[in-house]
Amino acid sequence: MRIVVLTGAGISAESGVPTFRDAGGLWEGHRVEDVATPEAFERDPDTVQRFYDQRRHAVARAEPNPAHDALARLERELGDDLLVVTQNIDGLHEQAGSRRVLHMHGELLQALCARCGARSPVMADLLERPPCPTCGERMLRPDVVWFGELPYHLDEIDEALLACDEFAAIGTSGAVYPAAGFVMTAADWGAHTIELNLASSEIAPLFDEVRHGPASIVVPAWVDEVLAARA
Ligand code: APR
Repeated sequence: MRIVVLTGAGISAESGVPTFRDAGGLWEGHRVEDVATPEAFERDPDTVQRFYDQRRHAVARAEPNPAHDALARLERELGDDLLVVTQNIDGLHEQAGSRRVLHMHGELLQALCARCGARSPVMADLLERPPCPTCGERMLRPDVVWFGELPYHLDEIDEALLACDEFAAIGTSGAVYPAAGFVMTAADWGAHTIELNLASSEIAPLFDEVRHGPASIVVPAWVDEVLAARA
């Protein structure tokens, strides 16, 4: 049984990390265009750096919740037959013990050098312009995929979607492509598809099954079922 799980901001909501759309479309008082685009970074780098430094501090205080823990438990049982693809830029899946995680929108805890392209763990607020450990230039940006940029790992994700038996989308509104289209790719290749969300997302009708409830409740229950069916 090969499973691909797509997670969105909803899986981290109960860990205290605000989702995008539940914040009324504003990200901590910022319009997306003002902080999450290459143009914004070009125009006003300090505002962008400050925004992501603040989110990094907020995420540092967050803990994984039972939904993250359940996916780590599922990986301990399924190993390479489970792939978690996340749109989230927090590190809560890894903190819960998941190892096979693809961050298609990048990671808050990583910096990308705009000069040499090297990636490095964020060791200080990027607003302070720390030097790139590789080239020494003070041109580090958050290693986050901004609107208008290509998400990461799309080939690997497509490969996994074509080969999976089950596709589960957890806590995502289905508002942003290409992630919102993954369910169709998986279904086209015969996978059973399930959405686990507080409320039906925009793409709920595309799923074989939809279950409503907080991730910390519905995800462990789903994992129990998957593991029981394998036993
Ligand atoms: N349990 C389960 N689902 C929840 C919970 C919860 N406790 N709380 C909220 N949700 C659901 C909401 O119903 C919604 O469908 O999580 C989803 C959050 O949607 P968004 O805020 O749009 O987050 P996401 O789908 O991850 O956004 C996708 O859009 O803004 C860009 O790049 C950003 O990665 C992000 C992408």
